Amino acid sequence: MSENIIRFTRGIPPPESFPTNELAECSAAILANDEKNVLQYGNAGGYPPLRSLLAKNAGVKESRIAIGQGSLQFSDTLSRIFIKSGDLVYFEAPSYDRVINIFERSGAVLKGIPLTQAGLDIEDLSFRLMHGERPVLFYIIPDFQNPSGTVLSLEKRIILTELAEKYGFWIVEDNPYRKLRYRGDEIPSLFELNPDRVIHMSSFSKLISPGLRVGYLILPETLASKFLNFSEDTYISASYLTQGIIYEFIQKGFFERNLALLKSLYEPKLDIMLDALDHEMTGFGYWNKPDGGFFIGLTLETNLEMDRLILRSQQAGVFLSDGRGFFCEPTQKCFIRLPFCALSSEEIRMGVHRLGNVVRELLQAY
Ligand SMILES: Cc1ncc(COP(=O)(O)O)c(C=O)c1O
Repeated sequence: MSENIIRFTRGIPPPESFPTNELAECSAAILANDEKNVLQYGNAGGYPPLRSLLAKNAGVKESRIAIGQGSLQFSDTLSRIFIKSGDLVYFEAPSYDRVINIFERSGAVLKGIPLTQAGLDIEDLSFRLMHGERPVLFYIIPDFQNPSGTVLSLEKRIILTELAEKYGFWIVEDNPYRKLRYRGDEIPSLFELNPDRVIHMSSFSKLISPGLRVGYLILPETLASKFLNFSEDTYISASYLTQGIIYEFIQKGFFERNLALLKSLYEPKLDIMLDALDHEMTGFGYWNKPDGGFFIGLTLETNLEMDRLILRSQQAGVFLSDGRGFFCEPTQKCFIRLPFCALSSEEIRMGVHRLGNVVRELLQAY
């Protein structure tokens, strides 16, 4: 086993990205300014000043916003409220493994719409719907997707929202990486294209710190009160204290400054990862070249088995997630998620180099 293990396993931010001093200042400020509210129980809609700021930014009524304990918990609440055993739910294939697990637990039937080299296979989606499949919802990560890094094109966003309208399903747009665009132009979100069909989810985990556990949801008007009542019956309110800290963080102008710092920290890592993949993986598979986010997804077009690849990589000092976990149906694909933000340039280069050696060695042995 190599001495320094390189972990391509978790998509977490690096400690040096945390704005610790600013958060200390914001914690002191909110406790000084509004301790009666932030230390008390609240309601499931969230800390009112932050809620109203988010509503204003999105151009919606406050009653449509829910602020909670990170965005992952919203997927769980949505699955509990809207899914009965046997209901059909679409995912991209691959998609975020934790949300797949949540909907599987709810008894839903999960179907994967392929993410190919050309992005979401919108023809497969249309075909399924035309032939009678009726999903309750489509969970999708349109910007810098976890795990593949893919961005859904504007054309496909438009078609998807039209299909949702025509066939009457909800789109759950999970979008924690949207603001982490290092270059290129923003594409309208699915929510912006159809605010009545799309449940928009976002989070401060990757924009400030995951330890604060603050995420938010913009709900269609027709779903908001059901969602908020259920949430209140479950946990009363998420922490107003951390929401208050984030409110201060935005009010003091730290948010935009921090976002610029994050971009300058992550963009060079993305470039190094893309360069390393060009050197090591050309001819073995494909990956997309995102302009932001945390991940690149590598699909090996070889007949390597995932189990052997994981084991041999581990022996070579590279830890990988089992790519099959990102698919909601069984797959033969050899898919590798490569998170790059929490690794140093050296680790990225070395990790991809080791992986390249493992792939070459395994292919020779076949
Ligand atoms: C697509 C996606 N959704 C949700 C989450 C979880 O976010 P939170 O920390 O807000 O629960 C993650 C975290 O990696 C993610 O990649």
